[in-house]
Amino acid sequence: MDVNLAIGLVESILAPKSLNHIQIEIVRGVIAGRSYQQIVDATKVDRLASQQARGTEVETIDSGKYKVSYVKTTAAQLWQLLTQRLNQKVTKDNLAALLLWYVKQSAAKGLVDSQSESDEDLPDREIQQSRVNFGLDGAFYGRAEEITTLTNWYVVERCRLILLIGMGGMGKTTLAAEIAAQLSGKFDRIIWKSLVNTPSIKVLCLDLLQALSPQALVDLPDTLGGQIDLLIASLRQDRCLLIFDNVESILAGQVQCGQYLADYDGYDQLFRAIGGLPHKSCAILTSREKPHTIARLEIVNPQLVKSMNIGGMESTAAHEFVQSQGCPQLPEWMWQEVHAHYDGNPLALKIATMAAIEMTGGGEKMLELYPLMKAGKLQFQSIDDSLTRQFDRLSQIEQQLVYWLAIAREPITSTELRANLVIHPHAPGEIINALQSLARRCITIGSNSARDRLRQRKWSIQPVMIAYVTRRLIDRFVAELAPESSTNIPIPDLRDRFFHLNHYAIIQPKPKDGICQIQRQFILQATIERLIATWSHPANLSQYLDRISTEWQDLDPLPIGYLGSNLVNLLTELNLK
Ligand SMILES: Nc1ncnc2c1ncn2[C@@H]1O[C@H](COP(=O)(O)OP(=O)(O)O)[C@@H](O)[C@H]1O
Ligand SMILES: [Mg+2]
Repeated sequence: MDVNLAIGLVESILAPKSLNHIQIEIVRGVIAGRSYQQIVDATKVDRLASQQARGTEVETIDSGKYKVSYVKTTAAQLWQLLTQRLNQKVTKDNLAALLLWYVKQSAAKGLVDSQSESDEDLPDREIQQSRVNFGLDGAFYGRAEEITTLTNWYVVERCRLILLIGMGGMGKTTLAAEIAAQLSGKFDRIIWKSLVNTPSIKVLCLDLLQALSPQALVDLPDTLGGQIDLLIASLRQDRCLLIFDNVESILAGQVQCGQYLADYDGYDQLFRAIGGLPHKSCAILTSREKPHTIARLEIVNPQLVKSMNIGGMESTAAHEFVQSQGCPQLPEWMWQEVHAHYDGNPLALKIATMAAIEMTGGGEKMLELYPLMKAGKLQFQSIDDSLTRQFDRLSQIEQQLVYWLAIAREPITSTELRANLVIHPHAPGEIINALQSLARRCITIGSNSARDRLRQRKWSIQPVMIAYVTRRLIDRFVAELAPESSTNIPIPDLRDRFFHLNHYAIIQPKPKDGICQIQRQFILQATIERLIATWSHPANLSQYLDRISTEWQDLDPLPIGYLGSNLVNLLTELNLK
């Protein structure tokens, strides 16, 4: 048996766990018919693996080589794990035979089910007729337009690759499951793969080949290209629907949107083949971010590769959905505001409903929370956690732009945004690139009205994001002005210590009518309230702000930034209290 195939099969049996260095060497050695001593002799200690092992089992490792006893114990643990997964006693002597047996079993079943460990995540499996098979057993609401379009894309336009892109919780996975159920009659096979545990392209290809063309595994090509060719051949032979859920898991964070994680570029090759080569199947991807492959393919091949933005659920369907979660029917005007506040995001609406029931006991009493929501004071940890994960993936310039879009609180042009970044100016092209990258992460929305198209495009972020980013910024302001940091500021440190207060304006220098008042209420007053809560004596706070202000004014030359005007605004507001 081919050694790489054996390693891939073992990884696939143990998925989502992947093999570490020594486990790979054990499988390699055993398949090659080596004894444990020969495996030790043939294997150099992996530096990283040895560091990890040293933390726990120092005595098991000699310098430069693993100890035989360590290799034997690790092998025994591996056989035990495989025994549990396969329900067959696995030993060093029968590993190769059992792997062949496993391939035949998979061929007979048509697919290997690899269970996922995450609760949120759907197990990989072949769909039967209904989305209940994916564990989505609640009723499905709305999305009629999306379903019509998606059906048309496959049935009429013969699309080969479709990306459902949207913020977390918008309902991409649910929609993919629903469309798979509705179109199940049109496909011979439907295969669902979640990428949440970041399977390597090698493991994914092997899994797909096992499901679609198990006989191919007996003489598997060595190269990824060869394996992908085999896969495309089976997509040509049968009408298959492949669903790759959570594609953002294999994309890198803190860089411009759409790049793959290190060692995951093989996915580019796979997606290009599915989108570019002739076959009669279709792949649907769900993702919070657009992989660069798709961005390119939909330009080169717009007929066959398409993406659909999954925004909020339409108002009436969303209202029915929250009622199914226990929310009373709200007066229409109130519902419109709640719907807009959560951007129609079904997960956010569901979390908010559940929390509101918890807080009030449910029923009409839930309506009493409305003023808190209006004032931006109703926040839910799990919504914030999800937004934090999205924010932390942004590159530095993207984070800066998102802060400024939250401060602006209304759509603004890239020129206006650029003018705000006074400390580290950026070229217009950099700002546009970053805004487009943010759009590919579904964070910014570029206006598309005919009027704006004639002038310059305006950019904004969604209300839930505005509320979250504002809270995050206020947290930073308050931390920078914490009482414990108030003693002995060495002057050269001012710019570092008040980094956010110097980079971002609490009230923009030239705000438009109405916006100044909103910034005052949602940023300035909210910061003051938080500061008063952390400083037991407002007089001390006031003295401290005065002191920094004086030290700042004394700097020569006066540094660029917003610290000076922010301190003036804070002092003025504090004195009004
Ligand atoms: N059309 C819908 N009908 C009913 N429930 C939905 C719908 N869309 C989303 N949901 C619910 O909202 C939650 C988030 O949806 P999900 O599909 O997981 O979002 P995403 O994949 O975009 O992160 C799920 O709990 C799901 O049950
Ligand atoms: Mg999902």
